[in-house]
Amino acid sequence: MIIDTHSHLYGEEFLADISDVINRARAAGLGKIFLPNINAASIEPMLALTRRDPDFFYPMIGLHPEDLGTTWREVLPQMEALLQQPEHPFIAIGEVGLDYYWDRSLNEEQQEAFAIQVGWAQKYGLPLMIHTRDAHRELVNILKQQIVHCKLSNCTLSGVFHCFGGTAEEAVELLEFEGFMLGIGGVVTFKKSHLPDVLKAAVPLERIVVETDSPYLTPVPYRGKRNESAYLVEVLRKLSQIYEKDIEEVASITTSNALKTFPKSQIIAV
Ligand code: NI
Repeated sequence: MIIDTHSHLYGEEFLADISDVINRARAAGLGKIFLPNINAASIEPMLALTRRDPDFFYPMIGLHPEDLGTTWREVLPQMEALLQQPEHPFIAIGEVGLDYYWDRSLNEEQQEAFAIQVGWAQKYGLPLMIHTRDAHRELVNILKQQIVHCKLSNCTLSGVFHCFGGTAEEAVELLEFEGFMLGIGGVVTFKKSHLPDVLKAAVPLERIVVETDSPYLTPVPYRGKRNESAYLVEVLRKLSQIYEKDIEEVASITTSNALKTFPKSQIIAV
C-alpha cells in the first residue's frame, strides 16, 4: 500500500472525472490519500470527498499562508470549532506555514496565524502539515519557540515539511525537529532538480514521506499535465534510484513513515 500524504483532489480541477482519478489511484497501489485543507471555502468539498470514501480519504484542517486574506481572524475560530467536535475526522493541522514568495506585506500576520495553528496541533494532539516558501529561517525560529513551550507542558509536536526543496543544510536543520518528516513529490523527478543530491547527502529514507500536491508539481514524464495521485509511483521510482533500493522497499518504508506520523489515519482505517 502506498500513501499520497498531500493531495488536493477535492479541487475543481477534478470535479469532472474524480471517479476515474480515484480508480487510477487505486490501480496504481494507493491505499490512502491525505487531503490538506486550504481555506474556509475548501472545507466542504474536502469533507464531501472524504464522505464518499472515508477509508481512503483523510482530511486535515488549517488555513494556508497564502489564503489569509482579510478575514483570517474570523476564519481561524471557525476552523477551531470543527476541531472541538468530539468525533471530528481531521488527522492533522494543515496546510499551514509561511509563504513569502509573492507577497511580503503579510509576513507578520502569517507568522501570527501559523503560531496559532501550531498551538492547535499541541492542544488537539495532531501532527502538522507545514508549507514553507522563502521563509526557512522564520519558520525554524517559530517552530523552535513553540517546541520549547510544548516541552514545558509535556506535549510533543510532529508533522511533515511539505514539498521540501531546500539545501542539504536546510534539510539537516529541519530534521533536527524530532518526529518531523520531509514531504517529497514531483520536484525530485525534474531534470534540473538538485533535490536528488540533497536527499542522498543529508536525508535518510526513514525521514521521508511521499506526496503529489495534486493538481500541482506533476512529475516527469507527465510534466505539463494536471497532477493526480496515481503519479505518485513516479516519485517512488525516482527515490528507488536515488537510494538504490527496490521500489517496493521504498514504498514500504515511506508508507510506514506516513502511518507513524499520522497515527489517526491508522485508527480510522478498516
Ligand atoms: Ni498543498
